[in-house]
Amino acid sequence: MSEIMISLKDIRKTYKSMGDEVEALKSVTLDIKKGESVSVMGHSGSGKSTLLSIIGALNPPTSGIIEIDGIDIYKLSQEKRADFRREYLGFVFQQFQLIPYLTAHENVMLPLTTTKRSNKEKREMAEEVLCRVGLGNKIKRLPNQLSGGEQERVAIARAIVNEPPLILADEPTGSLDTKTGDEIMELFQKLNEEGLTVLMVTHNPDNTSYMGRTILMKDGQLSLDEEDFVSVYSNKKV
Ligand SMILES: Nc1ncnc2c1ncn2[C@@H]1O[C@H](COP(=O)(O)OP(=O)(O)OP(=O)(O)O)[C@@H](O)[C@H]1O
Ligand SMILES: [Mg+2]
Repeated sequence: MSEIMISLKDIRKTYKSMGDEVEALKSVTLDIKKGESVSVMGHSGSGKSTLLSIIGALNPPTSGIIEIDGIDIYKLSQEKRADFRREYLGFVFQQFQLIPYLTAHENVMLPLTTTKRSNKEKREMAEEVLCRVGLGNKIKRLPNQLSGGEQERVAIARAIVNEPPLILADEPTGSLDTKTGDEIMELFQKLNEEGLTVLMVTHNPDNTSYMGRTILMKDGQLSLDEEDFVSVYSNKKV
C-alpha cells in the first residue's frame, strides 16, 4: 500500500472564458502523505480553490498527473469517479450547504442514501458521527436553529459519515468568529489525530498552527519564498 495520499505531478490548469485564457495553475508538483494535515494559503486568485477542486475529482487538469492513493482519478469513468468521490473524499465548504428543511440528523444521513445499509444502520451512523463532532444533543434541530459553528459541525459530520480517508476543506472557518473558528480547527485536529488526512484552504494564519504543515500558493505555483509567506500572513501584496 502506498504511503502517499495525494500525488500531483506538473499539474497545470487553464480556464477559457469568453475568449480569455487564465492560467490558474502553472506546474504544481506536490506529495501529501497519508495521515498528514496540510493548510494551503495564498492571496485571492492564486489558485487554491482550483487546486482543491482538481484534487476533489471535480475539475480535470489541463495537463499533468494526479493520483489519490495511487488511483489516476481522471482516467476513471464518470460513474467510477463519482463512486471514488463518495468513498474517498469528504468536502467541507465555507457555505455549509446544509438543506434548510432537513434536521441535522437527516442532513448527515444524506451521503448514506446510496449505500446498501438498513435505515436503522444509517440513522445510527449519522447519530454517532454527530456525537463525534459534539452535537449529540441537537440532532433533531433544523439548520436555522443552530449557530454558525454548529452548522459547520453538521457539515463536517456529513463530510465524514462515509468514513472517507481524505477531507478537503475550502475556508471552513471563513464565516465564523475567532472563537468558533478555533473550536472548528480543534475538531479538524482531532479528526486528523484519529487518522484522517486533511487538506484545508485558509485565509487565517492562526489556523495554520493546528495543521502539520503549510503550503503557499502564489500566481498558480507553490512558493517557498519567505517573503511570500510574510506577505500572505500579513495580508499584503509584495
Ligand atoms: N471557472 C472559471 N473560469 C474562469 N476562470 C476561473 C474559473 N475559476 C477560477 N478562475 C480563475 O482562476 C484563478 C484562480 O482562481 P481560484 O478560485 O483557484 O483562486 P483562490 O486562490 O481560491 O482565490 P480566493 O482566495 O479568492 O478564493 C483566478 O484568476 C480566477 O479568476
Ligand atoms: Mg478560493
